Amino acid sequence: MTQNFKSVAVIGAGTMGSGIATVAARGGYQTIINDVTEERVQRGIDTVTGFLRKSVKLGRLSAEQGETAISQLVGSTELKDLADCGVVIEAVFEDVKVKQELFRELDGIVSDRTLLHTNTSTLSVTGIAAGSRLPERVVGTHYCNPAPLMKLVEVAAGRHTADWALEASRDFLESVGKTTVTTKDRPGFIVNRFLIPWENNCIRALENGLGTKESIDLAVTGALGHPMGPFRLLDIIGLDIHQQVALRLYEQLREPRFAPPPMVDRMVAAGDLGRKTGRGFYTYDDTRLFGS
Ligand SMILES: NC(=O)c1ccc[n+]([C@@H]2O[C@H](COP(=O)([O-])OP(=O)(O)OC[C@H]3O[C@@H](n4cnc5c(N)ncnc54)[C@H](O)[C@@H]3O)[C@@H](O)[C@H]2O)c1
Repeated sequence: MTQNFKSVAVIGAGTMGSGIATVAARGGYQTIINDVTEERVQRGIDTVTGFLRKSVKLGRLSAEQGETAISQLVGSTELKDLADCGVVIEAVFEDVKVKQELFRELDGIVSDRTLLHTNTSTLSVTGIAAGSRLPERVVGTHYCNPAPLMKLVEVAAGRHTADWALEASRDFLESVGKTTVTTKDRPGFIVNRFLIPWENNCIRALENGLGTKESIDLAVTGALGHPMGPFRLLDIIGLDIHQQVALRLYEQLREPRFAPPPMVDRMVAAGDLGRKTGRGFYTYDDTRLFGS
C-alpha cells in the first residue's frame, strides 16, 4: 500500500454516506462521519450502528466485529476534524458547486497525499476535481446502493487524476472488501447507463398496468435473479435521487429512455421519496436510510 489509510472520513451522512461509512468502519478504519448538522450526523451514526447490529443478529458479523466497527465511528460537523484522514469520501448533494467548494476547503485542511473520492452519479469527475488545487488526487468512486451490501464500486479517473491516486484508491477499496471496475469519466459511468433506463421501463410497465408493483418485483427477483425488485430498490435509492439522476443523464445524453416517467414526478411532488420518508412504492415503519 502506498498510503496510510488508518483514518477515513465520509462527508454527507445521507443514504450513500451512511452506507459508505458502514463499509469503512466494518473494514477496520476509524471512520469520521461528517455532515452539516449534529442531527444529520447522529442519524447517519444511528443508521450505521443499526445496520451493523442487524448484521450481527443475522450472523454476518461476530458480536465482537460488530462492536469493534461501531467503536470506530466518530461524528463531526467541522471539516478541520478531517485533518489526519488518508481518504476523504464525499457523498454530499449532487451539485457540482457544493462538491467543488468542499474539495477547495479540504485542500487547506488535509495532507497533499490524502485521497479525495467523489461518489457522484452523474457529474464529471474532472469538473468536480477542478475545485481542488490538487486535482491529481481526486478520484471518482461510485458505490452502488445499498453500499454495505453491493460489492461493486466503479472507479473513474478525471482528466488530471494521477496513477498513484488511482492505484491507492483501488487498494483502499479492496481493503474494505469491494470489487472495482474501472470506467471512463462519462455521464452515468457503466452502472447507471443500464440501471436508469431499466428502472424507468419498470415504472412505465407499472403505469401501463402490466402488473402490480409486487408482481413486477417478484418477476424480476424470481426470473431474472436480481436480489431485489425494481420498486424495493427505488425505495432504497430514493425517488428524488432517481428523478435527479435520470434527468441529468437525459439532459446530457439526449436519449428519451433516460427521462424520468411522470409517475416519478408525481411521487416526488407528494413527498413519497421511498424508505427515507416512510413511503414510496411501499410503506415503511423503519425509515433508516438503507435496508439490511
Ligand atoms: N442514492 C443513491 O442511490 C446513490 C447511488 C450512488 C451515488 N449517489 C450519489 O451520492 C451522493 C449523495 O447522495 P445521497 O443519496 O446519499 O444523498 P442524501 O440527500 O441522502 O444525503 C446527502 C447528505 O449530504 C449532506 N451535505 C450536503 N452538503 C454538505 C456539506 N457541504 N458538508 C457536509 N454534508 C453535506 C446533507 O446534509 C445530506 O445529509 C450524490 O452525489 C448522489 O448522486 C447516490
